[in-house]
Amino acid sequence: MRRSVVLGAGHFLPEKCLTNADMALIVDTTDEWIVERTGIRQRHIASEGETTSMLATRAAQAALADAGIDANSIDLIVLATATPDHTFPSTATQVQAALGITGGAAFDVHAVCSGFVYALTTADNFLKAGSAQRALVIGAETFSRILDWTDRTTCVLFGDGAGAVVLEAQDGQGTNADSGVLCTHLRSDGRHLDKLYVDGGPSATKTTGHLRMEGKEVFRHAVTNLAETVEEAFKRAGITAADVQWFVPHQANRRIIDATAKKLGIDPAHVVITVDQHGNTSAASIPLALSVAWHDGRIRKGDLVLIEAMGGGFTWGSALIRW
Ligand code: UT7
Repeated sequence: MRRSVVLGAGHFLPEKCLTNADMALIVDTTDEWIVERTGIRQRHIASEGETTSMLATRAAQAALADAGIDANSIDLIVLATATPDHTFPSTATQVQAALGITGGAAFDVHAVCSGFVYALTTADNFLKAGSAQRALVIGAETFSRILDWTDRTTCVLFGDGAGAVVLEAQDGQGTNADSGVLCTHLRSDGRHLDKLYVDGGPSATKTTGHLRMEGKEVFRHAVTNLAETVEEAFKRAGITAADVQWFVPHQANRRIIDATAKKLGIDPAHVVITVDQHGNTSAASIPLALSVAWHDGRIRKGDLVLIEAMGGGFTWGSALIRW
């Protein structure tokens, strides 16, 4: 059985960083409110002219260096973003060009905060089918560009950044002991557009628009949907929470992460948290957290890692990876 094995991971964050104290100078908020309700302490913000493809390229370069492979051996780039450089072409093709790759295929996937789980699943299926041999899977966002900076209920929550992993198709035994992606689960339910959306777009308004969210409603659905998708992964793999070394959830809100972990009986000591440092970076949050935990030595070769996310659409999903 072919498996998509992780060869390396990398990430990139813009230099500019806004603390909660900085946010309190922009909107009517406090450090106490933001920390208590979300766990966020700071977020990185792309500077003028620093685009999603630039962040993604830096993350991809870091992942390629970590994997110790040449960019030109990549024959698939799947990039998750809801904040592309342009309406078209895809941001993935811009990254492909910046990396000097002229072969293979590159395209974007769009599932907002679940984007990385969708991108990883897509790449995994290409590799397993033999349609590609080595893939770059990237999550990259510049949400700062679509925030309404006068709306305190949303602008304090998000940040910019990018993360990437390199996957390679290798032969496995078809058991949980294999290295690589062991299983993936994707879900969506399009009835919930009004709860989390951007009020613009090329076809609807010919504008970019701003992010709008009914936070409480999203929170409620998130805990239920995330628990469901993780339980599905456990069931499919025939494992329990105790078998997983690291839970790397989408980093939207510390309270969502804690509530989901509690519901699933996950030990908080096994949960990777970066939302305090990065805010919610949408599709970039999971690969950012994976890269941080890999490079600081928490995630080790052979560890069982579970990722899960939920975002606009609604979309949600999970993946189990033997690192
Ligand atoms: O990644 C994609 C998915 N997104 C998410 O997962 C986000 C899910 N939702 C959440 O994380 C939370 O619902 C929020 C963090 C967005 C909000 O937390 P909450 O505990 O649900 O607060 P709330 O919306 O019920 O607001 C409570 C109060 C309100 O004041 P009143 O009406 O009680 O007087 C808000 O106006 O907090 C007020 N408030 C703020 N106060 C200070 C809202 N935003 C702020 C703020 N600073 N930034």
